Amino acid sequence: MLSKKICVALNKHTNTELYSAYLYLNMSSAANAMGFKGAANWFMVQYQEEMVHFMKFYTYLNSQGEQARVEQMAAPPGTFKSMLQMVEETLKHEQFITGCINELTDLAVKEKDHASQIFLQWFITEQIEEEENDRELIGKLKLIGDNGYGLLMLDNELGQRVFTPPATAGGA
Ligand SMILES: [Fe+2]
Ligand SMILES: [Fe+2]
Repeated sequence: MLSKKICVALNKHTNTELYSAYLYLNMSSAANAMGFKGAANWFMVQYQEEMVHFMKFYTYLNSQGEQARVEQMAAPPGTFKSMLQMVEETLKHEQFITGCINELTDLAVKEKDHASQIFLQWFITEQIEEEENDRELIGKLKLIGDNGYGLLMLDNELGQRVFTPPATAGGA
């Protein structure tokens, strides 16, 4: 059983993960419009990962006898001036998500909610990977600058990213 406070906070974050999915869906279109098919693929895989994150929260709430609810949300941005700006915004967003996960964990500790602490642990680790991926990509983009050949090479690399579906309901 979850406390009211935890339940409300987890449901709010369920919706934030869904917002992340929508944000990356918009970024995938924007990359495609810029002519970066590989980057469009990279953001599409990112979208699929976010749907897994969303479903993890949704399923956890329901498995605890609660009722996960999707809510109305603000539309994510859809206009970006460059690949670099898009990835910088991705990192900023993931840093915000890391903060949310930390706050949720603090609350679970405060409420002596051990099950939620264990549940959130996966996300603490996942956020390290998310931020690392973005920082790596920003580094490469800064190195490449306006070099067309470099951008083509990177876009080709981003096109190789494959979504790995979770091995279990708890994976991804
Ligand atoms: Fe996420
Ligand atoms: Fe990830």
